[in-house]
Amino acid sequence: MPDNSLIVPTHVGIIMDGNGRWAKKRGLPRSVGHTYGAQNFRKITRYISKRGVKVLTLYAFSTENWKRPKEEVSALMKLFHQYLVDSLTDFREDDIKVVFIGDRTAFGPELVKLIDETEEVAKDRKGMLLNIAMNYGSRAEIVEAVKELCHEVRDEGLDPDKITEKDISDRLSTGGLPDPDLIIRTGGEFRLSNFLLYQSAYSEFYSTETLWPDFHEEDFEKAVSVFNHRNRRFGGV
Ligand code: FPP
Repeated sequence: MPDNSLIVPTHVGIIMDGNGRWAKKRGLPRSVGHTYGAQNFRKITRYISKRGVKVLTLYAFSTENWKRPKEEVSALMKLFHQYLVDSLTDFREDDIKVVFIGDRTAFGPELVKLIDETEEVAKDRKGMLLNIAMNYGSRAEIVEAVKELCHEVRDEGLDPDKITEKDISDRLSTGGLPDPDLIIRTGGEFRLSNFLLYQSAYSEFYSTETLWPDFHEEDFEKAVSVFNHRNRRFGGV
């Protein structure tokens, strides 16, 4: 049961880690862990939206994940396809607006088409914004923002001395959105792994040993409760 006295973070980021270990513990191939992880993606997204979070950013595939064995990458691509199709109904019912961040050009044409269609059908929805980070890397995103500013200096007379932090954040794929208040990482590691590096300057970080396929409603509530006990000072006293 959610504790309605808790403040719900406006923007939550989740690094969904531990699918492989979840499968290994059960003597199953890693791809089975990803299947359960994808099922959980669908379920927990709906719960988080109902809980009143305004923006949810999920790390589904990093620019570094291409280094995994070919069979695992191809199983993940199939899952993205299948679960995006399946989730479309749920997300419509919940009025969830879906946006993809990251470099989609590296995906196959069918997946790119599905990504484009998913965004198109969801574009007027008013509920939670779901950013799915796929082939996403925060350093690459920062490089792109810097390139854009350099072009504006060269071609549009932007004064380099007037460039602000906001000018950079506006040019990131999360431009215009509030920074994440809370970043959750499942699977027990304590690192950001190239996720929302610029945006997370003052985010609260919550790491849990729970593996992603086992991260359910009550685990999210625990993270929200811990978040409520943090003293956010944003560099002040
Ligand atoms: C990390 O676990 C997980 C991934 C690289 C993939 C995350 C993707 C999903 C949960 C599916 C999401 C589905 C959609 C449709 C967006 P790992 O393999 O690194 O686990 P390990 O650390 O135990 O090896």
